[in-house]
Amino acid sequence: MYFASENFQTMLIRAAKVLMPAFLFLFTLLGLSSAVFANEPVLEVFDGVQSQYFKRSELLSNAATREILLARDAAYNKTMKVRAISIEALLPQVAKIESLQIVALDGFVANISGSVLAGQGQAYIAIEPADMPWPALKAASPASAGPFYLVWLTPEKASISNEQWPYQIAKIAVAATLQQRFPQLIPISTKSIELKAELRGLQVYISNCSVCHQLNSAGDANIGPDLNRPHSPVEYFQESYLRKLIRNPASVRSWKQSVMPGFNQQSISDAQLDALFAYFKLMAKERRD
Ligand code: HEC
Repeated sequence: MYFASENFQTMLIRAAKVLMPAFLFLFTLLGLSSAVFANEPVLEVFDGVQSQYFKRSELLSNAATREILLARDAAYNKTMKVRAISIEALLPQVAKIESLQIVALDGFVANISGSVLAGQGQAYIAIEPADMPWPALKAASPASAGPFYLVWLTPEKASISNEQWPYQIAKIAVAATLQQRFPQLIPISTKSIELKAELRGLQVYISNCSVCHQLNSAGDANIGPDLNRPHSPVEYFQESYLRKLIRNPASVRSWKQSVMPGFNQQSISDAQLDALFAYFKLMAKERRD
């Protein structure tokens, strides 16, 4: 018994000695390939039924990908030459889709209609090449707008706001509109009275603010504070200062880590800002979850 088990042990040790390099080699290979795979960014496109995953290298070598020149992009605020693929090439039925969610790695979510994405603004997904990284967005951090960035060739033709240029995109997904998913964003009195300004204000809110804020605990993002709960900024800020804050937050208070961008006249006109205030004031009266 004793000898037998000793023999068995030596056999095991011998076998292990022979097989070990092979195992090590296999493990190294596995490790390397998973490292390469982990480093390769992937864009998920959900068409309402299933998801397709596009690797960066596949997108860069796609026949529909080309170089485009952006006169003034929103993330860097300068002229950029990028390799990009049209939205239609990734999602051919985009024009017919009521609303899409563009989800960024940091939790920023833009809800944009398919007709706008397929429209006059000419939307593309810009792809950051691994060997030619884009510049950092901020001096404090090395992160760029990549790996995937929604850009517009002719944004002025479709009045595309700065907040409709989501960068560091992880996913594009067909979804119900923000208002359908979150009816708390719609004023209760919509049906009983004429609310033209308030409803225009809701649209301004959806295109520019909902990408980072919630309101009545409703929305996809959670980067800034809720703009109606527990209180609305129209209640706790003087209106003139709130207008200044929206135009340029640093003109009211300023610190290094602040995130909120300013909105100039091109992004939100004075009339649109009035509409946004009408919406906020009504929602403060109709506060709910
Ligand atoms: C890119 C994300 C982002 C967008 C877009 C954005 N905000 Fe903000 N907002 C923030 C963050 C984050 C804060 C907290 C302060 C900071 O870090 O800048 C904030 C703070 C605020 C505050 C101050 C609230 C308080 O209690 O101090 C108000 C008011 C506000 N935002 C309104 C708006 C409005 C109105 C819009 C749309 C026109 C908007 N924000 C768009 C991220 C954003």
